[in-house]
Amino acid sequence: MSLLFVTDEREYLLEPGETLESDLGILEVPEDVQPGDEVETHLGTVFTARKLRGPDLFHHLERTGAPMMPRDVGLVMGHTGISGGDRVLDAGTGTGILASALGRAGATVVTYETNEEFAEVARDNMETAGVSDRVTVHSGDIVDALDDLRGEGFDALTLDTGDAPTVVSAAPELLVSGGMVAVYSPFVESTKDVVETAREAGLTDIRSLETIQREMDFDSRGSRPSTAGVGHTGYLTFARVP
Ligand SMILES: C[S@@+](CC[C@H](N)C(=O)[O-])C[C@H]1O[C@@H](n2cnc3c(N)ncnc32)[C@H](O)[C@@H]1O
Repeated sequence: MSLLFVTDEREYLLEPGETLESDLGILEVPEDVQPGDEVETHLGTVFTARKLRGPDLFHHLERTGAPMMPRDVGLVMGHTGISGGDRVLDAGTGTGILASALGRAGATVVTYETNEEFAEVARDNMETAGVSDRVTVHSGDIVDALDDLRGEGFDALTLDTGDAPTVVSAAPELLVSGGMVAVYSPFVESTKDVVETAREAGLTDIRSLETIQREMDFDSRGSRPSTAGVGHTGYLTFARVP
């Protein structure tokens, strides 16, 4: 089980038995290390072992396809209500930020990734996230797999791919009645395609949201939204199978 080893200024993701050499000294992680334990480097720097949580995974999983931001993960979970016991069909896996979050919420996830190397990394990431028993990463194109997936009766479909409309059109055959669809789209045009396809497929409760988040700065001069960076990430479309 991977744990975070944290000082005031640094954190490292390490396995029991692993040795880390840095300018802070050599850190030898005991095989029986537990969250909350303190481990000292040979130069005397003390690291505290910490159990990984979702935001830690966002920072420490190996990145391949652009990972979904925590706020968008939160919106997907909030608007679909995906929770323990649900069966979710997901694509593309990418880094696996969304798939691992859904798995950590207790859902069983079947996720597809076209890029074989990305899929391999995602499988390791699911091990790190502690959800490899609930998240199955398939190498391949979800569109090619649709014929095998029809009739599976998933509770939710989560998509973060350019060809999402093709999958959305099959949603009524992939999901149970009342099942939820969530699609992340980077552009207005791709969002519109998803909405039109959802309408043609007879889905209900179709809703698209632009996701914007503003961080607040508080300093001695006053308080205001941060001037660093743009708060826009993309668009999320939600819909439901009647
Ligand atoms: C933006 S990333 C997904 C990030 C992911 N949602 C996460 O939270 O880490 C998109 C991924 O989808 C994969 N992809 C694109 N089209 C696909 C398809 N039709 N089937 C499976 N994977 C696909 C790409 O290779 C890429 O890795």
